[in-house]
Amino acid sequence: MMLEPLIFELSSPGRIGHALPPSDVPAQPTDVLLPATARRADAPPLPEVDELTLVRHFVRLSQMNFSIDTNFYPLGSCTMKYNPKINEVVAALPGVAGVHPLQSTETVQGILAMLYELAECLREIAGMDAVSLQPAAGAQGEFAGLLMMRAYHLRNGEGDKRHKIIVPDSAHGTNPASAARCGYQVVQVKSSADGHVDIAAMRKALSEEVAAIMMTSPNTLGVFESEVLEISRMAHDAGALMYLDGANMNALVGKAKPGDMGFDVMHFNLHKTFSTPHGGGGPGAGPVAVKKHLEPFLPVPVIEKTADGYRLNDDRPHSIGRLHGFYGNAGILARAWAYIRYHGASGLTANTENAVLNANYLMALLRDTFPTAHQGICKHEFVCSARRFKDAYNVRAWDFAKRLIDYGFHPPTVYFPLIPEHFEAMMIEPTETESKETLDAFAATLLKIAEEAAMNPELVQHAPHTAPVGRLDEAFAARCLNVCWTAEQQNG
Ligand SMILES: Cc1ncc(COP(=O)(O)O)c(C=O)c1O
Repeated sequence: MMLEPLIFELSSPGRIGHALPPSDVPAQPTDVLLPATARRADAPPLPEVDELTLVRHFVRLSQMNFSIDTNFYPLGSCTMKYNPKINEVVAALPGVAGVHPLQSTETVQGILAMLYELAECLREIAGMDAVSLQPAAGAQGEFAGLLMMRAYHLRNGEGDKRHKIIVPDSAHGTNPASAARCGYQVVQVKSSADGHVDIAAMRKALSEEVAAIMMTSPNTLGVFESEVLEISRMAHDAGALMYLDGANMNALVGKAKPGDMGFDVMHFNLHKTFSTPHGGGGPGAGPVAVKKHLEPFLPVPVIEKTADGYRLNDDRPHSIGRLHGFYGNAGILARAWAYIRYHGASGLTANTENAVLNANYLMALLRDTFPTAHQGICKHEFVCSARRFKDAYNVRAWDFAKRLIDYGFHPPTVYFPLIPEHFEAMMIEPTETESKETLDAFAATLLKIAEEAAMNPELVQHAPHTAPVGRLDEAFAARCLNVCWTAEQQNG
């Protein structure tokens, strides 16, 4: 990898860009800015409290939050790694936080340089030829990749003919959804018992109607697709392209490059690999990397480096168009840039090694009690089963998940990937940022809950007992959101 030689000086915040000067537009009266119909007649019934009461109220609320800053968060597939505070320092620099997207490019050369350099680093890590930072989430990166592959086939006169996308059943759930969203017919290919793509089934599914294979590797079982070169060869022989869901790059960075595996296009999930914030569905970033033959189709604008500085180029006739207002979630991109720059190539590689080591260490501690979905080593995460506790005591995977909350651990992902429900899947991803002590404590707690399940199943079935709320109907809460503060709550 060639990350270290990239030099970028952060000596003065002014180098990153200039904050917008104060506006000289005269202030408008309120009734011009907001019509009377939109203004309230009476003051809201806000409680009158002193500062200390207010501070205690919000600190208490913040302490109810579960976060990676306070506790271990082994949520498989979501990669809740620690977000180093230096990222926040960089994102808060006036030249990053204070710039406005409508400023002229001459006044934001610093942040454009930062974004350009991030794209260069990702290009190098991917082993590809060009990168767009614009997609605002992993799934939007998939969408961008699919649109580019469709544009490629259209340009080759095969747009109508190639209307299928092959998605192995070990792929992340967003893959078939994105393919369907792009109007493709999704063809699912089964995995074999060892968690790898079934090559024979893949060969059978390939035809001149296939636009691409969309693979997640390492896949949702934490298994690396060792036959990827053969799969790529088969796809290309059939005229199809190879898409990598690279959200699990935390297991590969510095070790292997998707471009060398035959992938034509991929996306990154910056929050899963480069330690940017993740939660509540956003704001995220899902940059896409492509090989040369897909470069003309990249979303606009593209950041270019010229003799006169950096510029945003919208004039690209074959582009799939714009995916995001302005240039993506720049604050997230700045954090990923910071993470990559201070780790350098050797640090990123060490993170990959430790993420895989931690996952295998934890798997070894738990495997005898919670058998895994496949044998052998895993990459950055693994899937194990609570089925024997369901069969013996009717204690299910989600009961283990809820009971972990009582012990101060966030639950792992449960019932995903969608291997049959009777498997009682628990998907665990420790990441490289956790210590051996934390992993030991987590394993000891899960084993203790296993004993509780045998001795006192009801204790586990009705957990959590110490959380501010018990078992919520999350689907109902999401669909019928009620965030009003009632008078009873105010008084009580
Ligand atoms: C393997 C994989 N692919 C795709 C996605 C989708 O990414 P996003 O939630 O940013 O849309 C995720 C989510 O974390 C993922 O784990």
